[in-house]
Amino acid sequence: MFYLLCKHRKQDMQYRYSGHSGLQLPVLSLGLWHNFGSVDTYDNARAMLLRAFDRGITHFDLANNYGPAPGSAELTFGRVLREDLATHRDEMIVSSKAGYLMWGGPYGDGGSRKYLMASCDQSLKRTGLDYFDIFYSHRYDPHTPIEETMQALVDIVRSGKALYAGISNYPADKQQECYQYLREAHVPCVLSQYKANLLHTETLTDNLPLAIDNGSGFICYSPLAQGLLTDRYFHGIPADSRAARPEGYLQREQVTPEIMARVMRLNEEAAAEGLTLAQYALRGLLRQQGVTSVIIGASSVEQLDKNLSAVEDI
Ligand SMILES: NC(=O)c1ccc[n+]([C@@H]2O[C@H](COP(=O)([O-])OP(=O)(O)OC[C@H]3O[C@@H](n4cnc5c(N)ncnc54)[C@H](OP(=O)(O)O)[C@@H]3O)[C@@H](O)[C@H]2O)c1
Repeated sequence: MFYLLCKHRKQDMQYRYSGHSGLQLPVLSLGLWHNFGSVDTYDNARAMLLRAFDRGITHFDLANNYGPAPGSAELTFGRVLREDLATHRDEMIVSSKAGYLMWGGPYGDGGSRKYLMASCDQSLKRTGLDYFDIFYSHRYDPHTPIEETMQALVDIVRSGKALYAGISNYPADKQQECYQYLREAHVPCVLSQYKANLLHTETLTDNLPLAIDNGSGFICYSPLAQGLLTDRYFHGIPADSRAARPEGYLQREQVTPEIMARVMRLNEEAAAEGLTLAQYALRGLLRQQGVTSVIIGASSVEQLDKNLSAVEDI
C-alpha cells in the first residue's frame, strides 16, 4: 500500500494553497460525518480511509459529534491511524470542530471557551493525536461574545493543540468579525467551511467573496447534496442510501418530486458536457475562484474512486 501511496499521489491529486497561507489541501478532501461511526462497518470505513490516502487525499475532516454515536468517527479515524497509518501522520491534515450539541448541560454546546477547550481535549484523546492541523468553531453562537469564541481558537493554536484556526457556518457579518479578530491576534483564519453545491449556492455569493478578501481558504461541504447530486435517487430511494437510514441527515421527505425534477435537469446539463451528475457537481465547485477544496462523503470505495476520477484533469 505504501508503494501505491507514493505512485498515485503525484499522478492523481492536485493541491491548492488555502487562502494566503502556506497550507496546501487536496482538491478533494474526505469527510467522516456519515459512514465512519460505531453503527457502521469498521472494515469498510478503514478501506475508504486507506484508499483515499493512497490516492492523494491528505485531508480528513472530523467533528466532535460525527458518528453515530457522537465521537465514534474520531475513534474510528484514530484506530486506522494507529493501526495502519501511524508513520504517515506528517503527510496528513486532520481537522476537527466543536459548536453543535455534544454532551448534556450548559458546557457541551455552542461557542463558549469552556466548551471549545474541553471538546478539543476530548477529540484529541479519541483520535489519539497530539494536535489537530485545523480546529474550527463549528457555528456561530449568538449567546457567546464572538471575541470569547475566537480567543479560545487563538489559545488552542498557541497551546499547540492545533496548528491553524478555522470557522464554519458563520453568517457573513459575523464571519468578517472572526477574520478581523483572528488576524489581529496573529492567528489568521486559514480555512472557512460552508455548505455549497448546485442546489445550494448562497454561500458562494454571501461567504466566499469575504473569505477571498480576507485571505482565508474556502472549503465546501456536502458538494453532492448528500447524494442527491448523483445517480443515487434517480429510481427511488435505495435501501442502503443515506435517505433510507434512520440516522441519516438526508430525510426521506427531502427527496421530493420537485427536487428530483431539478436534479434531472442538472443531469441533462451534465450529460451535455459528457459528464455524470456527480462529476459535473464536483468540477463546477472546483472551478469557482477561491475554492480551495471540496469535502466529499462516501459510503464505499467505489464511490470514492468515481469521485476522484471526476477531478483528475481539473
Ligand atoms: N461544517 C459543517 O457544518 C458540515 C456539515 C455537513 C458536512 N460537513 C463535512 O462535509 C463532509 C461531506 O458531507 P456529505 O457527506 O454531505 O457530502 P456529499 O459528498 O454531498 O454526500 C456524500 C454522500 O453522497 C453519496 N455519494 C457520494 N459519492 C457518490 C457517487 N459517486 N455515486 C452515488 N452516490 C454517491 C453517498 O451517499 P450514500 O450514503 O447514500 O451512499 C455519500 O455518503 C462531511 O463528512 C463533513 O466532514 C461539514
